[in-house]
Amino acid sequence: MTMERTLILAKPDAVQRGLLGRILSRFEEKGLKLVGLKLMHMTDELAAVHYEAHKERPFYPGLVRFMTSSPIVAIALEGIGAIDIARNLMGATFGSNANPGTIRGDFGVSNSFNLVHGSDSPEAAERELGLFFGTNELLEWDMDGCKWIYDPVEELGQ
Ligand code: RTP
Ligand code: MG
Repeated sequence: MTMERTLILAKPDAVQRGLLGRILSRFEEKGLKLVGLKLMHMTDELAAVHYEAHKERPFYPGLVRFMTSSPIVAIALEGIGAIDIARNLMGATFGSNANPGTIRGDFGVSNSFNLVHGSDSPEAAERELGLFFGTNELLEWDMDGCKWIYDPVEELGQ
């Protein structure tokens, strides 16, 4: 597993319901490092680029309406295997069938409002981080607690 960065979005329902802190805590508690954070409106233009892959899907107009309806929070996280770790913490796409213990499983039942987005591959993460953050908005910093989170370096064979 390699060191990765991933883009998480706290969607309008998460911000409106006052769940941002609890959602952010899930990622922090797991050991992922926060490297970028931004409260913002998703414009129609940004939504069109971010959700380009879904533009022919029947749910696309409703998805864009939802995502642009109210502020979102863009969250950049870093860690070894961060992309899959974050997706597992989020759970299945909709709260109606996401497992308990996951963000979507614990905080929602909706089949439209699903609280969070997470990049699904290294290529998507790179592309999406570039859409939401300027390079100088993603910080390099040492999280001192890392030595108690990751396996000792000699065990990783590095
Ligand atoms: P996300 O991209 O938000 O992390 O979620 P995901 O990978 O689990 O889901 P994806 O298939 O990439 O779909 C992107 C977003 O589109 C909405 N959606 N609606 N009504 C529907 O059938 C439907 N399917 C997808 C959701 O907001 C989903 O997160
Ligand atoms: Mg997706």
